[in-house]
Amino acid sequence: MEPEVRLTRPTDINTIRDLDIKCYDYPLEMDDWKELLNNSGKENKSRVVIVEGHRKSLGFGVWKMLPPEVGVNEQVCALHRLGVKPGKYRGKGLGKLLIKTCEAHAIRMQADLIRYVAPDFKCNKDDEDDISGFLSLVEFYATGVIVPSYKFMYGRWVDGFVFEKQLRGVSAC
Ligand SMILES: CC(C)(COP(=O)(O)OP(=O)(O)OC[C@H]1O[C@@H](n2cnc3c(N)ncnc32)[C@H](O)[C@@H]1OP(=O)(O)O)[C@@H](O)C(=O)NCCC(=O)NCCS
Repeated sequence: MEPEVRLTRPTDINTIRDLDIKCYDYPLEMDDWKELLNNSGKENKSRVVIVEGHRKSLGFGVWKMLPPEVGVNEQVCALHRLGVKPGKYRGKGLGKLLIKTCEAHAIRMQADLIRYVAPDFKCNKDDEDDISGFLSLVEFYATGVIVPSYKFMYGRWVDGFVFEKQLRGVSAC
């Protein structure tokens, strides 16, 4: 059975929290997820999707089109979260499928690029939880822009490394 990606419903709350807890050391709070799922897919709100296969929920993604900024020509789709259940479901192309889904939506919304801010400690190729390798495989590049003190994690403020994927010239599928 091919994995399928679908938009979440408010009743997915337990499923999405379970995936978030399994994928992130700093999962979102219940109230944040309620807000996200109640508005998922609505205009100017975040889009939350789940990928399913073999009748199981295997991963999820959250992204949002940012409002246009004065003096900035680019339309930006901000990728906030992307996770695939650890263990046997990783390394099977589900992360890539979620990125493709985000990308197709961003193109439909006429975004110029997708932006993701990664905590600095997840961008060390020698670490087992490195994500910079994955990001470059799905054609995101490090812009060199650093968001100082991006998040407080593991007892310290960590910087954020800005990654982007350009969409200009890519057609919607
Ligand atoms: C990052 C994550 C979503 C990848 O999911 P996945 O389903 O294992 O990814 P895929 O199987 O689609 O991998 C796509 C490609 O990236 C590679 N890849 C995956 N994780 C990688 C890593 N940590 N380092 C280097 N390459 C990696 C795969 O080998 C594959 O390469 P291929 O196309 O040449 O075969 C998953 O590891 C995860 O949930 N991590 C924890 C949450 C997190 O940090 N999310 C941030 C995402 S940017």
